[in-house]
Amino acid sequence: MIAIPVNGGAFAPYEVMVGRGLMADAGRRIAALTPQRRTVIVTDETVAALHAPALQASLTEAGVDSVVVAVPAGEASKSFAELERVLDRLLEAGLDRKDVVIALGGGVVGDLAGLAAALFMRGIDFVQVPTTLLAQVDSSVGGKTAIDTPRGKNLVGAFHQPRLVLADIDVLATLPERQLRSGWAEVLKHGLICDHDFFDWLAGEGAAGAAGDPAALQRAVVRSVEIKSAVVGEDEKEAGKRALLNLGHTFGHALESATGYSDRLLHGEGVAIGCTLAFQLSARMGLCPQEDPSRVAAHFAAMGLPSRPCDI
Ligand code: GLY
Repeated sequence: MIAIPVNGGAFAPYEVMVGRGLMADAGRRIAALTPQRRTVIVTDETVAALHAPALQASLTEAGVDSVVVAVPAGEASKSFAELERVLDRLLEAGLDRKDVVIALGGGVVGDLAGLAAALFMRGIDFVQVPTTLLAQVDSSVGGKTAIDTPRGKNLVGAFHQPRLVLADIDVLATLPERQLRSGWAEVLKHGLICDHDFFDWLAGEGAAGAAGDPAALQRAVVRSVEIKSAVVGEDEKEAGKRALLNLGHTFGHALESATGYSDRLLHGEGVAIGCTLAFQLSARMGLCPQEDPSRVAAHFAAMGLPSRPCDI
């Protein structure tokens, strides 16, 4: 297990723990954050069936009572209606300011549960237990929480940092291959924005991670979190450098919107096409070498990701 500190000075520091078998020990770690020995696990219906029993068993063993609140899987749950339902369940469970909420799931659950934690009683602690590669390498770290509105994605939200992130590499074994590859796009993004050696490793031996090799996945998650932690530590509220983490996202979000935030285009797939388009635009503006866009596109394609809008 590797613990990566996230420390910005502007928020309480916390650790992202990355390793295998972390779920079995999660209860003990979370118990240290719950003086009243109770919590609510926010998850989605798919993840609830796969991982909530193990997390609840671990919490029970550590003496922590837990209630599970499951929302429908998918981006549509990042809504005012689901936010209200989650907040109501936190009230029903009798949580107060000293309690913590656990986000067990991918980016949708992390964003929704994190925002609920930011709003509940004017803000209570939350723990991220990300179960997708995308959430482990990106959305569970850095404190961005949000819901969508009909006018656009992530338009209502808060910066609310978690107290702890537990990224268990073993849970990625239950991810459908397409979801794993989608998360890999965010890993490649980290290589593209600031670590040439990492990008080269991902293109070579690291590529086994995109097919599910646990050792390669662990290295990819650790390096991604190190990169993200350094950026967020310098610029929590995206006043400057953090915008780097949005590489490819402006195009990607537009494509996701055009395809109705549906299974037709997963977020990471939008990011893969978006990164290629961003490099094409940069090349046309004379901001990067002319050969870069095709190198980037070839790399995404080699990982089984789309790289052009016509791939959708
Ligand atoms: N996913 C981009 C960020 O956290 O800033």
